[in-house]
Amino acid sequence: MTAAHDDARALFTDLTGREPDGLWSAPGRVNLIGEHTDYNDGFVLPFAIPQRTVAAVGLRDDDRGRVLVGSTFAEEPVEVDLDELDELFPTAPGAHPAVPEWAAYPLGVAWALRQAAAEGPFRGLDIAIASDVPVGAGLSSSAAIEGATASALNELWGTGLDATALARVGRRAENEAVGAPTGIMDQMASMLGQPDTAIFLDCRSLEAQPVPLGVAEAGLAILVIDTRVKHAHSTGGYRERRASCELGASLMGVPALRDVSIADLSRAEELMDDLTFRRVRHIVTENQRVLDTVRVLRERGARAIGDLLVASHTSMRDDFEISTVELDTAVDTALAAGALGARMTGGGFGGAAIALIEQDAVDAVSDAVTAAFAGSGFDAPHLFTVTPSAGPLRDA
Ligand code: GLA
Repeated sequence: MTAAHDDARALFTDLTGREPDGLWSAPGRVNLIGEHTDYNDGFVLPFAIPQRTVAAVGLRDDDRGRVLVGSTFAEEPVEVDLDELDELFPTAPGAHPAVPEWAAYPLGVAWALRQAAAEGPFRGLDIAIASDVPVGAGLSSSAAIEGATASALNELWGTGLDATALARVGRRAENEAVGAPTGIMDQMASMLGQPDTAIFLDCRSLEAQPVPLGVAEAGLAILVIDTRVKHAHSTGGYRERRASCELGASLMGVPALRDVSIADLSRAEELMDDLTFRRVRHIVTENQRVLDTVRVLRERGARAIGDLLVASHTSMRDDFEISTVELDTAVDTALAAGALGARMTGGGFGGAAIALIEQDAVDAVSDAVTAAFAGSGFDAPHLFTVTPSAGPLRDA
């Protein structure tokens, strides 16, 4: 049990005056490689991290069919009728949810799970949420909330959905309740997490293969450098990148950029404006880098993937243009301090970078990055190592 478990239980008792029926948790994720490829039906290679979101949940004894959600991040809980969820959601594209945004995640899960399961009874419940996944850091705090809530409700309502179906419920909450046009990677990474293992996911078929990472056995560590520049994917840049990808696919006459190969890029260059072409080139080359990373991990191990991570960052910086000066500083400094590879991770426009480093270089690389940030006048970064960890759990 962690502080987040204690906090969720204490908040539940504060809000309801009773003990929860149980505690469920789900992890955030780091994406090793494969960025913005998920909504292009492509490939990704994320893994779940030790940081988790905890939901303390209890069914209500009354049969008024109400749901109350509280969070340690919010001052006031939100309470609605379960039947009202169909009026609150979906949120119109580009609009704000009809409830505070943090509450749209768990309430959106309740809404989407009811629709996915069809058969009730759906009793009212109380939900208290606490988390140690940093918010806005590109580590999928949102997928962790969705995964913890979906796991709890799936058990208490007896809806019996499997991990992939629950990932789809989480994604629907994020897309249609919160209004962030994200792909399926984060929810699948959180739902399918396994110790020491990355998840090689085909985002078209949703076929997932576990790939042993072997980072620790190779004497290596993965350092997260959270720049503490917050991002939000419900706005601006993420949506624009997605639109450019859809335009590129339609100009190529294919359903998704997954269907464009590196050999097709010269034709793509002739067919589209320079900006759209560079967006397309990032996706097409990034898909190939995921396939290459899986092959290299299997054949040669974690020590050999550094150049692929660096190439991915360069492509995101120059072609997809989703990096920031803080992320570039994190990556460049980590590499100069001896990292084997480094890249920004997640949706971009802020958030975190990862660096693959020697285990005994954690302090040296961390100090170098901290000094570089101070020297550039940036806020101090938040640095910690992560190991691939388990998916959703019932903890109590
Ligand atoms: C965010 C989204 C994901 C994915 C990544 C970029 O994390 O939630 O679906 O698109 O950005 O790879």
